[in-house]
Amino acid sequence: MTYRCSSCGYQSSKWMGFCPQCKVSDALAEVTGSSKRTTTAALVPLSKVGESPPPRLQIGISEFDRVLGGGLVPGGVILVGGEPGVGKSTLLSQVAGSLAVHGAKVLIATAEESADQVGLRAERLGIKSDDILLLADGDVDVIIAAAEQIRPDLLIVDSIQALAAQEVAAASGSVGQVRECSARLIRFAKETGTATVVVGHITKDGAIAGPKLLEHMVDVVLYLEGETDRGYRTLHSLKNRFGATHLVGLFEMDEEGMVEVADPSAAFVADWQGSVAGTVVFPAISGKRALLVEVQALVGKPVVTPQQLRRSVRGVEAARVHQLLAVLERHAMLRFSDREVYVSVVGGMRLTEPAADLAIALALASSLTNRPLGRTAAWGEVGLTGELRSVSHDGRRSEEASRLGLTRTIHADLVSRRIESALAAAGVFDD
Ligand code: TYD
Ligand code: MG
Repeated sequence: MTYRCSSCGYQSSKWMGFCPQCKVSDALAEVTGSSKRTTTAALVPLSKVGESPPPRLQIGISEFDRVLGGGLVPGGVILVGGEPGVGKSTLLSQVAGSLAVHGAKVLIATAEESADQVGLRAERLGIKSDDILLLADGDVDVIIAAAEQIRPDLLIVDSIQALAAQEVAAASGSVGQVRECSARLIRFAKETGTATVVVGHITKDGAIAGPKLLEHMVDVVLYLEGETDRGYRTLHSLKNRFGATHLVGLFEMDEEGMVEVADPSAAFVADWQGSVAGTVVFPAISGKRALLVEVQALVGKPVVTPQQLRRSVRGVEAARVHQLLAVLERHAMLRFSDREVYVSVVGGMRLTEPAADLAIALALASSLTNRPLGRTAAWGEVGLTGELRSVSHDGRRSEEASRLGLTRTIHADLVSRRIESALAAAGVFDD
């Protein structure tokens, strides 16, 4: 006998009044169905697998196609995560619109908004097609039945947190529901070869368990990020079973929805002069291209009490900034420990490459010493002993910087692989 928790999926061989894993009471239920099954395994020689991969379906929005690694894969399940209001539904309406223009059939299942709301948005975006079918329902089995009947080229489910499977005695959005509904959608996608996009909300601190849990189950994880008011939106690939990860597509949200940004580097550093202290450009690598991103730092006046000491970081990992502050204190004798520190990446970009270390360190030092860096691009990984390590793609980073008129570049090979030398070369630190 097996008992399974309807809330979190925990399995046990004996019944208990509450689930030992998620502590929900009365959640364990007997798993029915015969445990004896005849097994016929379908064996395929490895050499025959993937001989002719199915053609990808181009969406027709090139930034989106590029981040996916060349379009949708039949049967592939994509999670599009992001904070509420960032533009997930808008972008996916446009995906549906673009596919329909190219003759593909799309089913949009909306469990969150009414059909009218989705229809109004589509109208505003100028999307009108009989090849886009709308279903306003939150029952996962109703959605699957509709998809079975229609056989769309793409199934869009918005959002996973608003779905429910009837047999699961838990609220929509709970771990149990998210897991079960995703499992059913994924099974359907694989069995029928239907490309599927699932929307998942995350909160500011990424707290909701839903999308995190989903990340393991789906084939592709994309995150849409950016400030929720006007401005840029980035579409990142965090996981891709069919292509490269850490690709970035850039969009701008305006009245016509999400508009692709053709030259992200120019967009990011267009108004940038480098004439004030605390800013420098980092050429990030995204797939095959380099992308110029502005890194800013603000270091405040010394504070009297430690309670006043605020540290705020956006777009880079806080731990990384703390480490760089410690290295600068120790190896460059720059004192930050009694000052407020803010670090931010302009345009809502999120930098994950260690190569961003030098740019962050230079921005911090520049703000502290109040010496502007001018039109400078910098990259390199900073180690705990103050060493500056070279990183890959020096050439591509340099080319992109000079294309946009950044005349000075600072990286490991130019400054004897020490943070002090880099600071001296930048003119923020007397050697
Ligand atoms: P939405 O796609 O609903 O976000 P999500 O699905 O991620 O929660 O978009 C929310 C915001 O986008 C909303 O505040 C209005 C704005 N918006 C535009 O700026 N332009 C547009 O063309 C559309 C449709 C929405
Ligand atoms: Mg939405």
